[in-house]
Amino acid sequence: MNAPAVLRLLSASTFCAGTRMATLRSALVCTAAVLLCFAPVSAQVEELDSDFKDLIKDELWLVEFYAPWCEYCLTFEPIWYEVGAELKSLGSPVNVGKIDGSVHKSVVSEFGIHGYPTIKLFKAGVPFNYNGPRTKDDIVEFVNRVSGPAVRTLPSQQLFQHVMSRNDILFVYIGKASPLKENYMKMASEMIVHISFFAASEDILPKAVVLHEIPSVVVFKDGTFFTYNETQDGELSAWVNRERFLSFIKLDKFTLYSMGDTGKLVAMAVEDDKNPTKEGIQYKAMLEKVATEHKKIYSKDFQFGHMNENGYLNGFIMGELELPHIVVLNLSNDGYYLPNKTLKSTDDLLEFLNGVLNGSNQLLGGNGFIQRLQRFVYDAKTTVTKAPLASCFLISVPLVIIGMVIYACCTAVPGNSEDDHVSLLGQGFTSPNKDDTPGVTLPAQQEKNLEAKKED
Ligand SMILES: *[C@@H]1O[C@H](CO)[C@@H](O)[C@H](O)[C@H]1NC(C)=O
Ligand SMILES: *[C@@H]1O[C@H](CO)[C@@H](O)[C@H](O)[C@H]1NC(C)=O
Ligand SMILES: *[C@@H]1O[C@H](CO)[C@@H](O)[C@H](O)[C@H]1NC(C)=O
Ligand SMILES: *[C@@H]1O[C@H](CO)[C@@H](O)[C@H](O)[C@H]1NC(C)=O
Repeated sequence: MNAPAVLRLLSASTFCAGTRMATLRSALVCTAAVLLCFAPVSAQVEELDSDFKDLIKDELWLVEFYAPWCEYCLTFEPIWYEVGAELKSLGSPVNVGKIDGSVHKSVVSEFGIHGYPTIKLFKAGVPFNYNGPRTKDDIVEFVNRVSGPAVRTLPSQQLFQHVMSRNDILFVYIGKASPLKENYMKMASEMIVHISFFAASEDILPKAVVLHEIPSVVVFKDGTFFTYNETQDGELSAWVNRERFLSFIKLDKFTLYSMGDTGKLVAMAVEDDKNPTKEGIQYKAMLEKVATEHKKIYSKDFQFGHMNENGYLNGFIMGELELPHIVVLNLSNDGYYLPNKTLKSTDDLLEFLNGVLNGSNQLLGGNGFIQRLQRFVYDAKTTVTKAPLASCFLISVPLVIIGMVIYACCTAVPGNSEDDHVSLLGQGFTSPNKDDTPGVTLPAQQEKNLEAKKED
């Protein structure tokens, strides 16, 4: 039996890490009580079975894939009912449902579900994955954005100003119909999971905005605006991906997770916000300065930001990161860089960033087999001992370890021999608290979704 086959077999078993019977029981009791109190509310969420595949063909559905053994799903359930109630009261055309993956196993394999809860919005049969924070407001915002048109037209200057005041980052196509507009619409239908897109005619632009060329795609952010230039910026979707965050932002595991596909390195100041230090404040100021004043040079390669605690990073580096600190992460390979001396000035910081870019500063960590195994063990240990559980994986820990050992023995040549199932382990367990991130989405699965869209 080859290694992928072993892993495929293993993924059939189930595991919910960190379950303590007492908490489970109290969560059950609480949920039951909540359900009883809000019985009419539960009518806004439909319990689905595998027939829902027919429903999603021409109805909008927001679906939670859950399992009864998943403790976190129980905690999340009241929020799901609130989402259902809110969408109903807003008169949204989106139906809200949930489906028990442990009963409807065909659905789990068909939609590539790797953890619970997984949230998907189905629009004309095409799934859009929700990966943001699991709060009512964030989910409702996502639903309103994705269920509507991919590009919204701004018909008046007044509306333009209004939308501008409510969005930190605004992508707008300016001009009439053109091949660029077609390209923009196509890109928007995929990127709408991340951010909203608008279109407007030239005459509604504020006077201060002068464009060299019409049509153009413009992004308004950081108190200024830039236009997309194909020769310089490459593919439109890649440019949007790079520009869809402010130049200096507060980072958490959800933003890092959603940043995974921008391909940028993430340079951040990490400090303990409960114990702010002079040094930490200085680090933050230095990074913000580089992010704004040296934007032209560094923003192509780096996203800048700051983080308020080291929990996520400790898992990343598999140790305790001293605070405050400046760290650079490569989210594509789970590698990181640390300065080899104390950074006292912006010049020191620039030297560190240049060293990262030219390869003279050494990459630490990474996602080689050994690092993945180490990180997996580290995560399993910390999950069981302290981190609260926020997702349940469809994989058993002891079996995975055996599977990985078998895999290590069977794989004579590392590298290309890895297939989806192995990368599932990589993805699911590489970064710390990945178990905290919402339903793990695999690159392979995203590709499948895109393909599904193209077929339409
Ligand atoms: C786009 O970028 C290229 C290369 O940098 C430059 O030559 C060209 O003038 C730019 N086009 C516009 C409209 O700015
Ligand atoms: C980050 O990692 C990816 C995958 O190994 C690699 O292709 C990319 O060049 C790295 N980025 C930088 C800036 O080193
Ligand atoms: C890389 O950048 C660092 C920092 O600026 C510099 O000291 C070093 O000489 C550079 N190395 C190469 C090979 O360019
Ligand atoms: C420290 O890193 C810089 C690049 O960031 C490099 O040029 C320098 O040689 C390194 N120094 C040591 C002692 O490793």
